[in-house]
Amino acid sequence: MPLVGKAYSATGAAWQAGPGRVYDRLAEVLVDLSPVPLRDRRVLDVGAGTGAASRAIRRVGGRPIACDVAVGMLAVDRRRRPPAIAADVRRLPVASRSCGALVAAFSFNHVPDPHRALAEAARVVVPGGAVLASSYATDDDHPAKAAVDRAAREAGWVPEPWVDELRQRAMPKLATPAAAVAAAKRAGLRAEASVIEAEFPDLQAADLLAWRLGMAAVAPFVASLSDEGRRRLSARALDLIGEPEVLVRRMVVLRARL
Ligand SMILES: C[S@@+](CC[C@H](N)C(=O)[O-])C[C@H]1O[C@@H](n2cnc3c(N)ncnc32)[C@H](O)[C@@H]1O
Repeated sequence: MPLVGKAYSATGAAWQAGPGRVYDRLAEVLVDLSPVPLRDRRVLDVGAGTGAASRAIRRVGGRPIACDVAVGMLAVDRRRRPPAIAADVRRLPVASRSCGALVAAFSFNHVPDPHRALAEAARVVVPGGAVLASSYATDDDHPAKAAVDRAAREAGWVPEPWVDELRQRAMPKLATPAAAVAAAKRAGLRAEASVIEAEFPDLQAADLLAWRLGMAAVAPFVASLSDEGRRRLSARALDLIGEPEVLVRRMVVLRARL
């Protein structure tokens, strides 16, 4: 398993308890942008994590199958989740033309060669089906990110090497509509892409803190702290966050119809 998969596996339930609130809504926005109706289609949710897109697919009447490299993410809430496959998005153990659609919510931007993941998507989806993928836009930022990172560093957190590698070698490849369309083209897919904004006016400072502390880069470190250490880290981060501005996520949404 790649290091990023190990970190997500160790994150598991912490993801759903914090980032889950943000990502569940982003998955609904993504699925609603499908270029074909997903009702009654078998839809592969790749990089499924704790099931944000699977739930969104079910909500519109689709039949999800989850796939992720991190077994610890697939294991969360397993009894209520769809069937799952432990696999890399670039090597899907799935027959060609066997899915009605494929959704990748913030997973293709975790590999340095997203054209390979997109080529796999094109292979497994039937003609008339769809590929939908979201990734972080270059200007997707919020002051809570730097605030929590700073508090975590002060508490002794040292980011693992995969975090920088992800930010420098993988994420930029899908961080603009032009880059995403180019990666799709390289995979033989004719796609369109645009930046979509989603606002979270209901999230308070404590919710923003939970969002950041549940991210895979830092969640295993947070889990290693004592109760007192976690309390001190949270208090310091809340102090740095202060009165937060409304969270607005900006994602690149790539859509292709086969
Ligand atoms: C940012 S999380 C998103 C999870 C979920 N789709 C959501 O929107 O909440 C990224 C997910 O992609 C998975 N992932 C990263 N690299 C992967 C790879 N090469 N193959 C399969 N899954 C991968 C991670 O394990 C993690 O669950």
